[in-house]
Amino acid sequence: MDAAVAAPRSGVQDSAFLRACRREPVPHTPVWFMRQAGRSLPEYRKVREGTAMLESCMRPDLVTEITLQPVRRHGVDAAIYFSDIVVPLKAIGVDLDIKPGVGPVVERPIRTWADLERLRPLEPADVWYVTEAMGQLTGELGATPLIGFAGAPFTLASYLVEGGPSRNHEHTKALMYGAPELWAALLDRLADITSAFLRVQIEAGAAAVQLFDSWVGALAPADYERSVLPASAKVFESVAEYGVPRIHFGVGTGELLPLLGRAGADVVGADWRVPLDEAARRVGPGKAIQGNLDPAVLFAPRSAVERQADRVLESAAALEGHVFNLGHGVLPDTDPEALTRLVSHVHERTAR
Ligand code: CP3
Repeated sequence: MDAAVAAPRSGVQDSAFLRACRREPVPHTPVWFMRQAGRSLPEYRKVREGTAMLESCMRPDLVTEITLQPVRRHGVDAAIYFSDIVVPLKAIGVDLDIKPGVGPVVERPIRTWADLERLRPLEPADVWYVTEAMGQLTGELGATPLIGFAGAPFTLASYLVEGGPSRNHEHTKALMYGAPELWAALLDRLADITSAFLRVQIEAGAAAVQLFDSWVGALAPADYERSVLPASAKVFESVAEYGVPRIHFGVGTGELLPLLGRAGADVVGADWRVPLDEAARRVGPGKAIQGNLDPAVLFAPRSAVERQADRVLESAAALEGHVFNLGHGVLPDTDPEALTRLVSHVHERTAR
């Protein structure tokens, strides 16, 4: 026998989720949901009672429990680590908070060279609680893979420059167009912080990582290519050596998919606006695709949810690898039972 042939994989490495990310045959199409932890679950609200969001992210026992809740309840094929994209920024001392129902708010926005100095490099000890919680989690999850994540440089920059959530990203774009050198320096610093944060997670046991560039769809392709892609590509390159699948996700990215395909991820997420076969064509060969049921569909009756899920599966039939997900995160008022039923439906429909 050829000594170079790897031993059969078992456990996490042989999971349907990781197999699909690697574009290998799967026993069924794997399913997980962005924002599955927290949001719609009553058991989440119960354990979170009286604890602020950012404080919750720094308590390993709470993080472990919240991360496990959707795995227990829905039987999803992967867990996503409970945290938030702004946690590494908080960890290096940025004066930000997460306001309930609003999102991340930054006291003093970052808009000048002097402001940039407030973004120091992230050290693993700054996020000791992530290492601790991931250690607990990988023990508890058995063969279910744990997905680590971080915010992409553009989406983090948007919160930092705007000072909070933004519809039009006007201050962010003003900086990008008006002070390109400062913008490039800001994105480069954020790329390093994000890379360090992902490395901590992979070393603590994350079996895959997702880069959330939620608001990048606000950009035209030429601006994305020139002003953002280099920073996201740096993040993917910085974790390449670990060999864990890297997922790249944004909303409203139909026109950006060919460029996302070039940024370096192994799996590219698509929102519901582009059918998955077309998304795969735009992304190019050699990538798995993740998505893309419209999260609002879950508010329709069961038969309609199943019909729309089947449409997603049909559009994914010829893909090299497909990870079933929503086209964006679970909406807060979603009925958890609808999510559980959807997981079973996708598993049954795709059982091989
Ligand atoms: O996916 C998961 O379930 C893991 C946990 C997770 C959270 N935020 C927990 C959270 C993840 C992956 C995120 C990512 C995140 N955070 C993104 C990218 C994903 C996306 O949806 O596009 C963004 C843009 C943020 C920033 C953020 N944090 C917003 C806009 C909000 C407020 C809106 C809201 O959902 O209420 C948060 C707060 C937040 N992050 C909550 C949770 C569970 C709600 C806080 C609470 O329960 O008090």
